[in-house]
This record gives sequence, structure tokens and C-alpha cells, in this order.
Amino acid sequence: MKTILAYSGGLDTSVAIKWLQERYNSEVVTLTLELGQGVEDLKAIEEKAKKLGAVATYSIDARDTFFNDYITKAIKANGLYEGKYPLGTAIGRPLIAKYLVEIAEKEGADAVAHGSTGKGNDQVRFDVSVRSLNPALKIIAPVREKWMPREEEIEYAKKHGIPVPVTKKSPYSTDENLWTRSIEAGPLEDPMKEPPDDAFTLTTNPSLAPDEPEYITIGFEKGVPISLNGKRMKGVELVSRLVEIGGKHGVGRIDMIEDRLVGIKSREVYECPASVILIEAHRDLESLVFTREQRLFKEIIDSKWAQMTYFGLWFEPLMQNLNAFIDSTQEVVSGTVRMRLFKGTAVVVGRESPYSLYDVGLATYDKSDVFDHKSAEGFIKLWGLPSEIVAKRRTH
Ligand code: ARG
Repeated sequence: MKTILAYSGGLDTSVAIKWLQERYNSEVVTLTLELGQGVEDLKAIEEKAKKLGAVATYSIDARDTFFNDYITKAIKANGLYEGKYPLGTAIGRPLIAKYLVEIAEKEGADAVAHGSTGKGNDQVRFDVSVRSLNPALKIIAPVREKWMPREEEIEYAKKHGIPVPVTKKSPYSTDENLWTRSIEAGPLEDPMKEPPDDAFTLTTNPSLAPDEPEYITIGFEKGVPISLNGKRMKGVELVSRLVEIGGKHGVGRIDMIEDRLVGIKSREVYECPASVILIEAHRDLESLVFTREQRLFKEIIDSKWAQMTYFGLWFEPLMQNLNAFIDSTQEVVSGTVRMRLFKGTAVVVGRESPYSLYDVGLATYDKSDVFDHKSAEGFIKLWGLPSEIVAKRRTH
């Protein structure tokens, strides 16, 4: 038997290498992906896996793919689950699953494995994605199966020569990539308690952020951000720069009660300066170039998109249909948005586009007004007619 394991290099997945070998008598191939979680050294992680007996190791810097095929879709869809969470972890999982399947096919493996627990959304996203791409593959989730309590895991690790982290284990469970840093557990499990400052690594506490606001401009082309402050740059760079600038101003901290796919409510904390800034800017630009009907309808599509993404249905055919619709709306979403970052807030203060539907002659209150006030009367008469009919009937 041969298994491809999604390998972070951390304790759980390191123990999983040995565990898969012992429990399943399986050869283990590891796959480590860089999605912007700040891995220092992919090669060192591969070395570690080899030492633990992996028969082959892969590491891939997938940040460009992540931006081009996942993050851009999230931006175009203004992707926010329950109106708040930018879905970073949720879009990362199908990408990892896709690579797992690709490597499994290349290596002629029987199974893929991941380190998700049995309580979260991630297991669902991994499993459903893998099954959508290749139903013949077995899926193993060691931590979901009979996993060892922490002390036993450390014993097991020591016995097998797996390096045990010397630093005290953080109370938080985190998942980080270019789009979102997700933080759960520990003190956050009390929903009434404010998240302690040590939960955050990317953002300054807003009250300690600079006392001067910073203005930025973001250029969009067909719904995709392509420039920052007039400078064209690649997506990965643009997002990274926004994490830095936004983080400095304390932008992008989110604290919410979230409805998990497995039926539980959980307290989730995120820090995601770039996603908050880009979605806000993108949505604002849409409001300039869309008709009212387009805006109202796309909101429905966007919220369906976010739900399906959260629910692990990235490879479900309806997603393709939603993305096709969304893409067709983005033809006109080009232009520039200006924002002010200040003490935890990112506010749009200006926008322009060659496709703008804003007509100052129609909007103005001064004498250059070209709006036909006379025709408003007739319009209102008919608009209010149904209500008037009801009212008249009532009085008789
Ligand atoms: N609640 C978020 C989601 O379902 C984040 C999950 C974070 N995962 C983790 N291992 N801490 O997408």
C-alpha cells in the first residue's frame, strides 16, 4: 500500500508518517505545499519526512496557483461566509486535495491522508474534494481515527525519534495562508471573552496602530486586483503587501460565532487584512459599475458561492455555473478604488472606472441638474398605485 500524506512538518503529521507505516503497513509519500503560511524551508521539511521513512517527498510553492485559481474567485464573489469570514482555510483545502490527488495518480498510490480532526469543516472539504476528483482513492485521516492523547503522542514521537517541539504548545489551533489566518480554541472558547492579544501575529492591536491614517489605491481589471498605489504587481505580492500595510493599521481582525458544517456553533477569530481590504474595495467598485438589478441578484449568487465554498463543495458542478455567472459580471469591474486605513478600519473614500454608471448631471443637487423632476411625479403615481388601491379598499 502507498499513501500520499499532506505533510506540514508539525508534530501531528510527523507522527502520522510512522502511524501510517505501522497501522496500515503503508509506504508514505509526503506532500508539503506553500500557500503563504510562512514556511521557512520546504527542503528542510522534506528532509525531516525522509528521516522518518517517507519513501518520496514533494514540496511545491503553490502560492501563484492559489492566487490565480482560488483567491481571485473569492474576490470576484466577494466571498464572505455568514457575511464575515473571508474563507481562507475553506479555499485552501480543495487546492491541497487537488495536489494530493495529482501526486497520488502520478505515484500510483492507493490512498491519501490528511491531519484534520473529526470535529471541523476541514475533514469534509478534504474528503469531498478528493472524492470528487478521484473516487477510487482511499482517504485516511489519522487524527480522526483512534488518535493518541497528547502525552501519549509525545511518548510515541520520542520513541520514534520524531523531534518534539520544545516551546510550550500554543493554546490556539491555527491555520494560515495568504488569504486568512484562522485562530480557534484555548481562551477563545469562551464567546464572551475578548480575544487576547497573543492570538494575533499579523495585525497590530487597533488601539496601538499609527495615529496617522494611510491612504492606498487599488487597481482592478475585470474583478482582479492588479496594482497597488499605481504600481502593477503580481497577485501574491499585492496580497502580501496588503497584509503588511493593513496589519500595521490593525485592519482585518474578525471575531464571530460561526455555524460549522458539522452542526456545531463555534467561536472563530480571524486576521486577514488583505482579504478585508480587497473584498471591501471590490464590492465598492461593483456598486459603481453594476446596475441595481445586477447588484441585487449578484448578492444572492455571492452568498450561495460562499456557502458552497464553506461547505466543501468546491468541485460540485454548480460551483462552475456560479463562477461562470460571476465571471460574466466582472467584464466591467475595472478601475481604481482609494481607501483609508486607520486604527483597525479600512474605508473606501473614492472610486473611478471607465465603466462607471455614475452620472453627476443626474445625481447633482445644484443647478446643472439634468434629472427630469416632472417625470418623477408620474413614476411615483404608478409605483405607489398598488398600495393606494389597498388603502382605498380598506376605507370602504
Ligand atoms: N472555521 C474556519 C473554517 O472552517 C477555520 C478552520 C481553521 N482550521 C484549523 N485547523 N484551525 O474554514
